[in-house]
Amino acid sequence: MKTTISIIKADTGSVGGHNKPSEPMIGKAKEKINEALKKGLLSDGKVTYTGDDIALLMIHTKGVDNPDIHKLAWDTFCQTTKIAKEQGLYGAGQDLLKDAFSGNVRGMGPGSAEIEIEERPAEPFIIFAGDKCGPGVFNYPLFEAFASPYHNAGLLLAPDMNAGFTFHIMDVNFTEADKLITLKVPEDYYDICTLLRDPNKYIIESVVENASGLVAAVASTSRLHNIAGKYVGKDDPVAIVRTQKQFPSTGEILSPWALAHYTLGDNRGSHHVAVMPVKQNSIISYFDGPTIMSAAGYCVHNGKLTEAVDMFDQPFWDLIRNKASEKTLEMRAQGFYGPSMAAMDELEYTGVVENLKRLDKRFVLRNQK
Ligand code: 13P
Ligand code: 13P
Ligand code: MG
Ligand code: MG
Repeated sequence: MKTTISIIKADTGSVGGHNKPSEPMIGKAKEKINEALKKGLLSDGKVTYTGDDIALLMIHTKGVDNPDIHKLAWDTFCQTTKIAKEQGLYGAGQDLLKDAFSGNVRGMGPGSAEIEIEERPAEPFIIFAGDKCGPGVFNYPLFEAFASPYHNAGLLLAPDMNAGFTFHIMDVNFTEADKLITLKVPEDYYDICTLLRDPNKYIIESVVENASGLVAAVASTSRLHNIAGKYVGKDDPVAIVRTQKQFPSTGEILSPWALAHYTLGDNRGSHHVAVMPVKQNSIISYFDGPTIMSAAGYCVHNGKLTEAVDMFDQPFWDLIRNKASEKTLEMRAQGFYGPSMAAMDELEYTGVVENLKRLDKRFVLRNQK
């Protein structure tokens, strides 16, 4: 029997500002997951948070895009929204952008990543969950981990990986349909780089191993502003990455995160800061950020999860957290100028458009040709 790993996350309200869901909200989410375990809908499940987002990790046998699983997530988020409203929390129901559930959370606000697998004898995988970032935050670390021998020594040392990987990349600004391109490394290396250099438009949806045809990684691709037509919060994506044996090792997958790369998503979703690798269940603080990413390692066997190993809760990452703080402060020192704030195409969804329209009327023409 195949096992499905589903991670669905949403911001349904938070304490302080955009900082952390409340304990009663987290308690309610755990209650709903426990109910689903008792009913047999799930074989295992976990509830965590990253900044102001609640993530539901659900293990089951129903495959991806299953309406029962998606309804469980949607109903859970409706209930945590209810609590957020009762408690007067900020942004209650923020990521629930549609009123009626229609069978799948995709296109409704919550972020989701799902993978159906034939369990290997040992099935290690990592769940990544970010806050204050767009879905393109995974472009750099996933591409590097799967395509670059600088991080993935297995590309040189492990024969299974010699044939490389295939990247499924989505143009997330095309809203009429899912617009996808399939490119392989090593053959299409430069073409992939050409797309991934724009992480607000071209997003890695999944990575497949060429030799085995097995899906190695999946990431969420929702863009809230494309659903809502205005700025309603950042996308705050999730990803599932399988590791070891025919795939990169767990450490190779984590290796690119040591850069603390710059990404868009901090404060009002409009600023570039460095991604800080953090422990699970970390909060948001400086400048409504900084952008954070957690990584939880698990093994799944016969549909049952092990405990999590909190990958960024290790002394090595203290240095990277300090580096991320320094890189963020360097960028913040530039305020709103140039690359510190988002480019105009991302800001179009915010109030800046009205301000520019108003100011445009005050421009005067000189030396007209
Ligand atoms: P072990 O020999 O301890 O399994 O480690 C192998 C490995 O590939 C680590 O990257
Ligand atoms: P969230 O998407 O995490 O709610 O962040 C929104 C924001 O604008 C914080 O400044
Ligand atoms: Mg929020
Ligand atoms: Mg958030």
